[in-house]
Amino acid sequence: MNDLKKFYENNTKKNLNKWKHYFDIYDENFSKFRNKKITIIEIGVFRGGSLTMWKSYFDPQTKIIGIDIDPACKQYETKNTKIYIGDQTDVSFLQSILNENEKPDIIIDDGGHTSNQQISSFNFLFQELKLGGVYLVEDTHTSYAKEFQDRDDKLTFTDYAKVLSDELNDWYRIKNYKIYKQKIDQVDVSYWAKFIYKVSFYNSIIAIEKRRNEIPYSEIR
Ligand SMILES: C[S@@+](CC[C@H](N)C(=O)[O-])C[C@H]1O[C@@H](n2cnc3c(N)ncnc32)[C@H](O)[C@@H]1O
Repeated sequence: MNDLKKFYENNTKKNLNKWKHYFDIYDENFSKFRNKKITIIEIGVFRGGSLTMWKSYFDPQTKIIGIDIDPACKQYETKNTKIYIGDQTDVSFLQSILNENEKPDIIIDDGGHTSNQQISSFNFLFQELKLGGVYLVEDTHTSYAKEFQDRDDKLTFTDYAKVLSDELNDWYRIKNYKIYKQKIDQVDVSYWAKFIYKVSFYNSIIAIEKRRNEIPYSEIR
């Protein structure tokens, strides 16, 4: 059993509501950041349970930033845990948080879970994620529930992530892609092709890892 699952199993504070299969997914994506001083943003504080869980799992010097629309969540602020109250779709609010803190290594979206909230927060915050970082969206089963589909275009986050999986292959939609010059700034591919290393689909979670990709290149040797 990994340490996050152990934390959950031993927690009796009624402040942590998690699907049991999430712990292996977290550990798979986050274990490489353990024992490093990192910065985490979690959208969705609720009763502070997950913030405490991250604190127990990562290095004690790790800076945790919680975002929630509910002012009552401010009470969970501690030494290395800052809480900001506002709406996850409000880009100027998100920008003000970034202005005050280091760029995040991990972003977890466990906020309101509507399609528009998930897509708009991702579009803004992924660009601010550090290279090597992971953006993890929880509860993507909401993509299949009408009450969470609040966009005029009816796009869900799961639909959007499927499009991102095409975008990271944008290199091959260009004619003559084999003759790329070896300078990435001379290649007219999407931002997503340059910066998404992988999109991982799990049961109810989607995780996107950011890297500065190399121009794809193959030769016979
Ligand atoms: C599922 S709970 C978070 C649970 C917490 N991460 C945990 O694991 O213990 C979702 C939280 O998102 C917050 N929320 C809902 N809509 C939001 C929005 N538009 N912006 C920011 N937070 C929002 C709610 O107030 C609620 O506290």
